[in-house]
Parts: sequence; C-alpha cells; structure tokens
Amino acid sequence: MSFDPRDLPLRNPLTLAQLETCLDELLALLPQQEVIQVVDVGCGNGEVLARLRERRLARQAADAEVLGIDPDGAALARAATRHAEIARAHAAAELAEARWEARGWQSEGDASGPWHVAICLGSRHAFGDGPDAASTMVQQLAARLLPDGCLFLADGYWRQPPDADYLASTGLSEDELAPIESWHACFDAAGLQQVHEERVSKEAFEEYERPFWAQGGAHWDNWRRAFERWGRDTMGFAGWVLKRR
Ligand SMILES: C[S@@+](CC[C@H](N)C(=O)[O-])C[C@H]1O[C@@H](n2cnc3c(N)ncnc32)[C@H](O)[C@@H]1O
Repeated sequence: MSFDPRDLPLRNPLTLAQLETCLDELLALLPQQEVIQVVDVGCGNGEVLARLRERRLARQAADAEVLGIDPDGAALARAATRHAEIARAHAAAELAEARWEARGWQSEGDASGPWHVAICLGSRHAFGDGPDAASTMVQQLAARLLPDGCLFLADGYWRQPPDADYLASTGLSEDELAPIESWHACFDAAGLQQVHEERVSKEAFEEYERPFWAQGGAHWDNWRRAFERWGRDTMGFAGWVLKRR
C-alpha cells in the first residue's frame, strides 16, 4: 500500500511527546472554566486540535471551540471524523461543534478571530513563499489573538548555514529558512514572549523523514542522500509556545 502522509498523526517533525509537552505548556496559560476559541491554520487531519481538546477535557476544563483551516478537503474529512469521536466519547458534556473550512489562509484580511490560541505547525507556506512568510505568519496570527491569547507554532530553521551543494541538490533556497535566533527576533518584534521551545533532535528528524524516503524513486532517493550528507546537520525544526507580552 502506498504511503499517505495524511496517515501520520503529525505532519511535521515534532515528536508526539514534544507535541504533548507543548500542549501542556499552552494549556497551563489558558482559562480553564471558559470555552476557549482556537484556530489551526493548515490543520491537516485535525490531530493537534483533537489532542488539545482531549487534554482539556481530561482535566475537567471547558471545551475548546476549534476552527481548522486547510485547503485539503480529504484531510478535513478525517479531522471531522476524529472530532466526532471526541464528541461521542463525551456525549454527556455537549461539546462545541468543531468547524472545518476548506480554504487557504487569506493573508489579505482573513477575518477570523480573535482567538485564545492560534496554531500553525509546519504550514508557514499558507502565509507566502518568500523570506517574509515567517514574520507575516507571526504578525498576522499575533494580531488576531485576544489580549491574553497564545500562539503555538512549529517550523524549520538552519542549524548552520546551508552548503551550496546541499541547496543545489535539494532545490532549497537559502532564504527559505533562517537561524533560530531570527525566529526569536520575529517573536519579539510581534510583542510575543516565548514560554516554551522544543527543538527536534537530529535523530527524531530522521525518524520523521524515513517513511518518505521508503517511497523510493529519484526524488526521495536524492532527498535521503542530501539529508544524510548535509541536511541532518543543517536543517532543524522547533516548536514554540508564545504569549502576548
Ligand atoms: C505539512 S502539513 C502540516 C499539517 C499539520 N499542521 C500538522 O502539523 O500535522 C501542511 C498543511 O498545510 C496545508 N496548506 C497548504 N496550503 C495552505 C494554505 N494556503 N492555507 C492553509 N493551509 C494550507 C496543507 O494542505 C497541509 O495540510
């Protein structure tokens, strides 16, 4: 059977343990008795929103009213099924209806919000392709938070300046990512305080990549060789929990 990345619980290199640590850090910042408003841009199969809700409900906190935005209708169908299961498991609690919008983020004035939590994990391209996409994402999501709102982001960074041969071999461009300090500066410029950071280890990153390589073919064989030669030491990935200062 062919590999479908939508079968992965998470479509980014954070480990599930790291995801749950971030969610715990996030949930500790949020009101417990009030139903919270949460958006996930590029939510994929809705697993992050599902785990966030399940963790709140397990602590007897009020539910989260979630909105997942993603142009991939098949991923959203999986999300809807997953969240319907949560509602069934908590039938007595009359949970909020999860909302799924099959569309891209509308950078020019997406009217959503304000949010207690805005999430974007591995989906920065929703905010543009150029070198400014990172700051656009951080600024636009921060601007849609409630005064005590939080962000949960995860994205790539350069562990070291990328070798020219690595870029040539993968087709990546140097300005696609930046050192992790650039992310920190970006958070600061958007008036955000970093509450927690999780950096993915080189081993965990490789673990995430392996099922893609296993598909074989020229593209993935080349990607694997480039990862093993340069990428392991060059490309990092991290998750951040941030709150408004
Ligand atoms: C790498 S996956 C990450 C999925 C999920 N956030 C996770 O971490 O498991 C990137 C997701 O971004 C979605 N996407 C692509 N273009 C988008 C856009 N313009 N706006 C919102 N989401 C987009 C894709 O359909 C895909 O589900």
